[in-house]
Amino acid sequence: MNIIVTGGAGFIGSNFVFYELKQHPEDRIICVDKLTYAGNLSTLEPVLHNPAFRFVKLDICDRDGIYKLFEEEKPDIVVNFAAESHVDRSIENPTIFLETNIIGTSVLMDACRKYGITRYHQVSTDEVYGDLPLDRPDLLFHEDTPIHTSSPYSTSKASADLLVQAYHRTYGLPVSISRCSNNYGPYQFPEKLIPLMIANALADKKLPVYGEGLNVRDWLYVEDHCKAIDLIMRKGTVGEIYNIGGHNEMRNIDIVKLILDYLGKPYSLIEHVTDRKGHDRRYAIDPTKIHNELGWLPETMFKDGIKKTIQWYLDNKEWWENIIRGDYQNYYKEMYGKKEVIGS
Ligand code: NAD
Ligand code: DAU
Repeated sequence: MNIIVTGGAGFIGSNFVFYELKQHPEDRIICVDKLTYAGNLSTLEPVLHNPAFRFVKLDICDRDGIYKLFEEEKPDIVVNFAAESHVDRSIENPTIFLETNIIGTSVLMDACRKYGITRYHQVSTDEVYGDLPLDRPDLLFHEDTPIHTSSPYSTSKASADLLVQAYHRTYGLPVSISRCSNNYGPYQFPEKLIPLMIANALADKKLPVYGEGLNVRDWLYVEDHCKAIDLIMRKGTVGEIYNIGGHNEMRNIDIVKLILDYLGKPYSLIEHVTDRKGHDRRYAIDPTKIHNELGWLPETMFKDGIKKTIQWYLDNKEWWENIIRGDYQNYYKEMYGKKEVIGS
């Protein structure tokens, strides 16, 4: 099969490319990525010369370019990871989120309609369900939990999900959607909580925890997410939504302390700063459906995954040091410079 993977030079997309090439050497992977600040071609270096792999630098909003590629490659499956993915950036500048996450999704699906595919899979997020209260551990997100978004990012992802469902109902496009909780693992851009805290701790810089750090996220090792998507796009039911999560809820402050403990750094590096606007309190996924229908279960326990991840950042300093040497410095100043310290 020919499989187009968009956003394959980013965090989850690159891990998915590696997973597919290893698990399904009979398939061909065509990676489409615009190489925004979050995309990194060097991540894909180990597979760039693999004959089962092709990299194409292309914006998913570029209709002509996408149609031309579909004509050339005649893909069987399209998996859409490409997105603007960072909530804080969406709060500063929503427009690009609407363009890539909504318009880009519609361009890809128009190409799927025009050229014919067996499956279009949309990689979505648990953030489309909004948040849950901190004092109701009995509540979880189910596939039929109403959409109730908080940030421009989650709203753009929810809009894309609605479009995907509309293309299924109106045009009969064979689609599926997955909504996953927070991922962690190798190659995550150091603007996200875990890699940012690792990088700062290693440089003995302050670790900026939003508010009191009591917000809860449900963490999943990235390879478990990749495995779930692989199952859904090959064996999942057309038209269905699948939640993906590891039943692993953690408070931000506990994650930060765990990272400091592992690196042997003092808690005095923690700095509580102004909270994120509209900050979602808690995410928690019920993954019963994907377990019952496709037999999926997470394989990496958080205690092992987090060690593996921290070790990866220690062993691959060049990868993230290259990133934080560039434009990232301006991003960091702009994003964190205006935050006030609210205690430590
Ligand atoms: P990322 O920001 O690390 O990577 C995004 C990739 O998309 C980058 O390589 C970037 O260059 C590319 N891209 C951006 N705009 C593009 C465009 N217009 N055309 C082509 N390529 C473009 O993101 P990630 O964390 O790997 O997330 C991947 C997907 O998974 C996103 O759709 C995100 O919403 C979803 N998701 C992420 C998480 C998470 O915890 N990171 C959890 C659930 C779902
Ligand atoms: O739940 C899935 C989502 O997880 C994905 O859809 C998003 O693409 C992905 O970015 C992630 O969103 P979050 O907003 O949960 O991830 P982030 O790493 O930005 O933040 C995790 C938590 O840590 C959140 O409560 C905010 C907090 N935080 C984050 C940063 C960057 C801090 O306290 N300090 C920070 O500097």
